Amino acid sequence: MESGGQCFLLQTILWLVLSGRCYSSHLDVQCLMTLQRSLIDPDNNLKYSWNFENTTEGVICNFNGVECWHPDENKVLSLRLSNMNLQGKFPAGLENCYSLTVLDLSNNKFTGPIPDDISKRIPSAASLNLSYNGFSGNIPSNLSNCSYLNTLDLQHNQLTGTIPWQISTLKSIDNF
Ligand SMILES: *[C@@H]1O[C@H](CO)[C@@H](O)[C@H](O)[C@H]1NC(C)=O
Ligand SMILES: *[C@@H]1O[C@H](CO)[C@@H](O)[C@H](O)[C@H]1NC(C)=O
Ligand SMILES: *[C@@H]1O[C@H](CO)[C@@H](O)[C@H](O)[C@H]1NC(C)=O
Ligand SMILES: *[C@@H]1O[C@H](CO)[C@@H](O)[C@H](O)[C@H]1NC(C)=O
Repeated sequence: MESGGQCFLLQTILWLVLSGRCYSSHLDVQCLMTLQRSLIDPDNNLKYSWNFENTTEGVICNFNGVECWHPDENKVLSLRLSNMNLQGKFPAGLENCYSLTVLDLSNNKFTGPIPDDISKRIPSAASLNLSYNGFSGNIPSNLSNCSYLNTLDLQHNQLTGTIPWQISTLKSIDNF
């Protein structure tokens, strides 16, 4: 009786682990699809490389600028999209790349505000580089809720205000 219960518990945990893995990898694909749709890519830097027709697990890990935690698992570790002539607002969909630690959008032509719910969109970010764009408006205080952030580069934008004091403990701040 007791060992049967333990076995059931083990099966349940296994099921949770396996389904959790599928669930999260599906979300990371969704993240990149939404992101691609939300930005303007006049030089087709992402258009051909980011091909979602092949649904093999790990295929997004070969996409231009995408690095995964493991090459055969759709779980995005970093997005390095600098210097690609990308345009539009701060890209959408990132909240579904739940394990994203590095976001580099530097040296593009993004405009508009840095979202004031930034910490919900990139909760795991350790490094954020938005430098050399056309972001404008206030530096959102919500950046201070990105609790893992240790590198932040916002230089060469049209931002106003200061880095929230809450994140003045950052190891490396490159601002204006
Ligand atoms: C899909 O991607 C995998 C891994 O990159 C590759 O081995 C496979 O040949 C691709 N399938 C198609 C139909 O392109
Ligand atoms: C951010 O990106 C710019 C341009 O690509 C680069 O020069 C700079 O070193 C980066 N900042 C950090 C802190 O890595
Ligand atoms: C700021 O961050 C917190 C925690 O991540 C979040 O719950 C809150 O909604 C954010 N604020 C705004 C204005 O979105
Ligand atoms: C977001 O950060 C502010 C300022 O540090 C803090 O007061 C607030 O409790 C944080 N919110 C969450 C949900 O962590």
